[in-house]
Amino acid sequence: MIAVDRKGPKTLYRQIYDAYRTGIVDGSLRAGQRIPSTRVLASELGVSRFPVLNAYAQLLAEGYFESRIGAGTVVSNSLPDNLAPSVQTRKRVATIGPRPMARTASVLPISGRPPWLRGRGAFGVGQVDFDQFPLRIWSSLVARHCRKMDAESLQYGGPMGSKALRETIRNYLRTARSLHCEAEQLMIVSGSQQALDISVRVLLEPGDAVWVEEPGYHLAKDVFSMMGCELVPIPVDGEGLNVAFGIERCRKARAALVTPSHQFPLGVTMSASRRFQLLEWAQDTGSWIIEDDYDSEYRYTTSPIASLQGLDGNDRVIYIGTFSKVLFPSLRLGYVVIPPDLIDRFLAGRRTMDLGPPRFFQDVLADFIDEGHFARHIRRMRVLYGGRQAALVNSISQELGPRVEVLGAQAGMHLTVTLPKGTRDKEIAERAAAMNFWLWPLSPLYMSARSRPGFILGFGSTAARHIPRAVRKFRSLLDAR
Ligand SMILES: Cc1ncc(COP(=O)(O)O)c(C=O)c1O
Repeated sequence: MIAVDRKGPKTLYRQIYDAYRTGIVDGSLRAGQRIPSTRVLASELGVSRFPVLNAYAQLLAEGYFESRIGAGTVVSNSLPDNLAPSVQTRKRVATIGPRPMARTASVLPISGRPPWLRGRGAFGVGQVDFDQFPLRIWSSLVARHCRKMDAESLQYGGPMGSKALRETIRNYLRTARSLHCEAEQLMIVSGSQQALDISVRVLLEPGDAVWVEEPGYHLAKDVFSMMGCELVPIPVDGEGLNVAFGIERCRKARAALVTPSHQFPLGVTMSASRRFQLLEWAQDTGSWIIEDDYDSEYRYTTSPIASLQGLDGNDRVIYIGTFSKVLFPSLRLGYVVIPPDLIDRFLAGRRTMDLGPPRFFQDVLADFIDEGHFARHIRRMRVLYGGRQAALVNSISQELGPRVEVLGAQAGMHLTVTLPKGTRDKEIAERAAAMNFWLWPLSPLYMSARSRPGFILGFGSTAARHIPRAVRKFRSLLDAR
C-alpha cells in the first residue's frame, strides 16, 4: 500500500509515516494488522532502512503501531474503532451535533466585509493619504531605535505603555484638546477598538443598557454586543446626540458612547448645550460617557473643538484617542484617558487580554512627536485635506445641487450626503462596488428601520484634482437608479 516518490517535496521518512497514518485513520489498515518488518519494507521500496526505521519509531511513539515480542509490529489495538469521522470533523461540522458557544459571540455579524468596504478609491472612508506621510523621517527614527536595541529592550514594557510616550501625549492632549489629565491616567492601547473593549469590560455588565448614536460606528457597537449589553439607539440631529430623547427612552442606561467632535458618520459637532446635558445626565444617573475622539485633529473652519472630557468635573468621561487617522492605521496605537480612581481596575482588565503594548513603536512615536514631526505633519495635512474637502463640497454643489444635503463637512476626512427618502443606497453601493467604485451607504449604520439613505464620502486619499471626476461618476450612479 505504500509508494514513495524520491523526487517529491516530502522526505522519504515523512512519506512512509503519512502513508501508514492515513491508512490507519481511514480504516484501510485494521487494528492488530501486521506491518512488514523495516528490512522487508525498505527492500520493497528500494530505499535505505533509515527512513523506514524513523517512520516506524514515530508511529510507535504516537501509538499508531505497537510491537509485540514474537509478533513483530502491528497496528495498535488500543485505537478507537471509528477514527475516520473524528478526523473528517472539520468538513462535517454541521452534521455532528451541538457546538455550543457564548450567546454574545453568536450574535456578532460574521458575513465578512460588505462590498463597499472591500477596496480603496476616491471616496474610501477613513483613508489616509499614505503618500504624504513623512516615511523617510519615520524610517530614520525606526533605524535609530533598531540600532539602540539591547537586551533590556526585549523585556516586557510597562503595562500602561511607555512613560515617555504617555508624557508626550499628555502634553499634546492638554494643549490641543483641552483635556484635564496626568500621564498616569493614560493607557497606551492598540487603537480605539482595544480602548473600548477594556472600558466595556471594566465598566459594564451583561444586560446593561448603553446609549449608542443612531446612526453610529458599527465596530464600536459590536464591542457592547459582545459584552451582552442592550444597545439603545439615540438619534443624532444637528446638535449631536439627542440627550432629551435618551432620557425619555432609557434614563437608566449605564453608559453612552459618543463621537462629539465629529460624529461618525454624520459629521455633526455636538453643541455646548448638549455636552452639558449629557454630563449632567451622567452625573445624575451615575452613568459613564465614552468619548471616541477618532479624527478631531482636522478641522477646517475653526480650531479643534475642546473635548467633552475637559468639561467634565466629575470624572465620568472615558476619553479615547487614536493615531490611526492622524498617522496610519497599521501602527495600531491609541490611548485611553482613565479617571484616576479607575486606573488599577483598567490595568487589571487589560491584563486579561494582553500584558501591555509592544515597546518598539511606542519609542519611535515618542521621538516622532517630541522632535516636532507630528505637529508639522498635522499642519500640512490639515491644509491638504482642507483643499480636498472644499473641492468635494464644490463638486457636489455643481453636480448634484439640491438633490442632496451635505452634512459634517467642517472637519475630519469624510462628509455625508443624504438623499431623498426611498433611495436605495445599499443597492447603489453594491452596483458601484461591482465597478470597483467604493461608496459607503448610510442606511446600514442605523439600527432602527427609520434610517436615512445617503453616502459617506471620504476625501482623505483623493487629490483635489481627481475629485470632480469621481463626483460625476457618483452622479451617474445616482441617475441610473
Ligand atoms: C468612529 C471611529 N472610531 C475609531 C476608529 C479607529 O479605530 P482604531 O483606532 O481601532 O483604528 C474609527 C476608524 O474608522 C472610527 O470610524
